Amino acid sequence: MSRFDSKVVIMTGGGSGIGADAARRFAAEGAKVAVADVNLEGAQGVVDSIRGAGGKAIAFGTNVADEDAIIELVEGTVEAFGGLDVIVNNAGVGEDPTPIDERSLSDWQKVIDVNLTGAFLGAKHAAKAFKALERPGVIINVASILGVVGFKGAPAYTAAKHGLLGFTKATALELAEFGIRCVGVSPAFIRTPLIEGMEDAVLPLHPIGRLGEPKDVSDLILFLASDEASFLTGPTYLVDGGYTAQ
Ligand SMILES: NC(=O)c1ccc[n+]([C@@H]2O[C@H](COP(=O)([O-])OP(=O)(O)OC[C@H]3O[C@@H](n4cnc5c(N)ncnc54)[C@H](O)[C@@H]3O)[C@@H](O)[C@H]2O)c1
Repeated sequence: MSRFDSKVVIMTGGGSGIGADAARRFAAEGAKVAVADVNLEGAQGVVDSIRGAGGKAIAFGTNVADEDAIIELVEGTVEAFGGLDVIVNNAGVGEDPTPIDERSLSDWQKVIDVNLTGAFLGAKHAAKAFKALERPGVIINVASILGVVGFKGAPAYTAAKHGLLGFTKATALELAEFGIRCVGVSPAFIRTPLIEGMEDAVLPLHPIGRLGEPKDVSDLILFLASDEASFLTGPTYLVDGGYTAQ
């Protein structure tokens, strides 16, 4: 018996990095996984690797900032796998370090739309499904250490991730009476395509002496999604190699 036998998981941004690793690990522990990504090819590659290892998964080409696409994702997952137990709102984008007085409104908006509004849309439609199915679902929002501290050159990303921590608390309070939990994770710099080219510059910011690996974050995500975490709702948990302890 594995931790996620008979569970159904939606992983947004599942085509790369942390989401891809967590999707594979959920499937390896018995879950049926909907791998959603704006990059359908990336999502399909992860689904192929899950199926190749004997797991169950389905790919969706989903832009998390588009409500119709999220509705299609949630309804399509319930239809394909007969339920829904966990959504991980993991899709995210970074931003260029353009000076704030030169930054365009559309650049700002895109980062907020994907990193913050995308999590709202995922939580909204997952909560609707959990209530309809009368299942004690779990919503996990992937924030960042930049939800706790600032970072020069990343005002929209920092604002979106700070916003996610508040959103996670308020959502947890509202959904607790339905048995639905909402928690977050805040990773430091993790070796994925998102930080390509920044590795050497940010390494010294981590007292533990290394960057994070996707597995460091998916270990926490899987724990938070599991029954072992049934008393945890509201907080966003740091996984940061000491970054914010300084
Ligand atoms: N890598 C890090 O250092 C780090 C640190 C803290 C937090 N995070 C967060 O972790 C999450 C995963 O990041 P990652 O490091 O694995 O990055 P990644 O770039 O490897 O993966 C992100 C995935 O999200 C997808 N995506 C982007 N916009 C999307 C959209 N509108 N709709 C659906 N999918 C979309 C991308 O196609 C990509 O597959 C993000 O929320 C990121 O902000 C990453």
